Amino acid sequence: MQRLEKFVDPLPILNTLQPNKRTKQGAYYDITMEAFKTKLHRDLPRTTLWGYNGQFPGPLIEAFRDEPVSVTWHNELPDRHILPVDTSIHGLDKLPTVRTVVHLHGMETTQESDGHPEAWYTRNFQITGPTFSKRTFHYPNHQRSTLLWYHDHAMGLTRLNVYAGLAGMYLLRDKQEASLNLPSGEYEIPLMITDRSFHPDGSLSYPAQPADAGPNLPYPSIVPAFLGDTVVVNGKVWPYLEVEPRKYRFRILNGSNTRAYQLFLDDGSVLHQIGSDGGLLRKRVDMEIIGLQPAERIDVIVDFSQLAGQTITLKNNLGPDADPADEMGDIIQFRVTNHVKNKDTSNLPSNLSYVPSLKQNDISTVRYLKLVGSADEFDRPLLLLNHLKWHDPVTEKPKLDSTEIWAFVNTTDFSHPIHIHLVQFQVLDHQTFDLERFNEDGTLIFTGSPEAASPNNRSWKDTIEVPAGTVTRVIANFGPYTGDYVWHCHILEHEDYDMMRPFRVITDDEDKK
Ligand code: C2O
Ligand code: CU
Ligand code: CU
Repeated sequence: MQRLEKFVDPLPILNTLQPNKRTKQGAYYDITMEAFKTKLHRDLPRTTLWGYNGQFPGPLIEAFRDEPVSVTWHNELPDRHILPVDTSIHGLDKLPTVRTVVHLHGMETTQESDGHPEAWYTRNFQITGPTFSKRTFHYPNHQRSTLLWYHDHAMGLTRLNVYAGLAGMYLLRDKQEASLNLPSGEYEIPLMITDRSFHPDGSLSYPAQPADAGPNLPYPSIVPAFLGDTVVVNGKVWPYLEVEPRKYRFRILNGSNTRAYQLFLDDGSVLHQIGSDGGLLRKRVDMEIIGLQPAERIDVIVDFSQLAGQTITLKNNLGPDADPADEMGDIIQFRVTNHVKNKDTSNLPSNLSYVPSLKQNDISTVRYLKLVGSADEFDRPLLLLNHLKWHDPVTEKPKLDSTEIWAFVNTTDFSHPIHIHLVQFQVLDHQTFDLERFNEDGTLIFTGSPEAASPNNRSWKDTIEVPAGTVTRVIANFGPYTGDYVWHCHILEHEDYDMMRPFRVITDDEDKK
């Protein structure tokens, strides 16, 4: 397909959705998933997408701590998928093709509102999955301010539903954040970075089979990874943004299926990082480059005040071995105007918030959870957690309000971003081990000492890169709800097949049964 010219479309600024009503129970929204057509680039014909309220990204929801939000997520999608559905996995041949369920990633909520993968439903709730229990989801917002995001989570379809456009952002605010006087209003900009590929007619391109598929593979067949050849930010291909010479706060999400980014500014300016997945850091960290795995969020301040009249690009470092024809090194261009409209009175604080360390807690359990590669009956890669499949019985049952260490042992030769629902965790460390030896006879021999998480990953996180050949340990307190949740790799092609497992938070009584 012909190359799309970069930086010709302005960045879409997301508008905050107004609730349908506000009552003593909080704000209530009706949001509808529907198919729509939109222009993603000046020179690209209109693309059919699926979006929340017919938008991609979905509408921005803004909430305040302790003020609950309820959403009825209506499904008015067509009966046929716009992308190739592999029905050979998870018994999907017996299920309706188009199924959806919404998960608000990073939210602490009850199991009924968490968007369990089997709580799916079809158009107008006609057919519902085995764990479906209600139509309206409730988000208590009893947690600190941060950027969360909502996206589809239907069993075996997540990669396709999200790629079709079912993803949006959710800003939770609180008083503590407000007291810091950070850049706000039009100077605070949420950015959803994704990658997509297109056919010349503008339609989304997603492989129906792996490139090296033999004759015996099912058609369509899931692919083990997907990398698009075009960057799409807030629903525009390689956009530009005009900025004033002053400070801006960018709330950045990697909403891509597989692709990780290494973000930096091409003029050498630092990214003042103030927050990560679970909210503000303890202290600001000035970063030259920030790695962002799928589903991770960063909160950064960029100071354009000395850059009047210049053009700066937010880039993605592709590394020394990158193909020079690879276009994915560019994300978005900033064109700095010559004057500020009003004097910049916002702050760039160094002390941000109090984050208690969980290390002081009693640790009830340490779980070693292996990330392993295997193959299925068609000889396709089948990635697993602890050698178990999604449908195997629950093995992780933390007790309510107990603190556990989960040690992710990555025995594959690439990184996996591991995400746990319900909780925000803290990353203890990463430790390398002898991968070859482990894969020969299962002996875990460490080859280095434990290394602390990088400073920008030391506060609350819900998704963390587990590099190849490392044990990455995280610590979490399981609560405040009991019930059935999931943890998984957030590379959506892995999550769907089959790097996702249930976990159950139980009470003491359940433990004795
Ligand atoms: Cu962002 Cu289980 O998901
Ligand atoms: Cu999640
Ligand atoms: Cu993975």
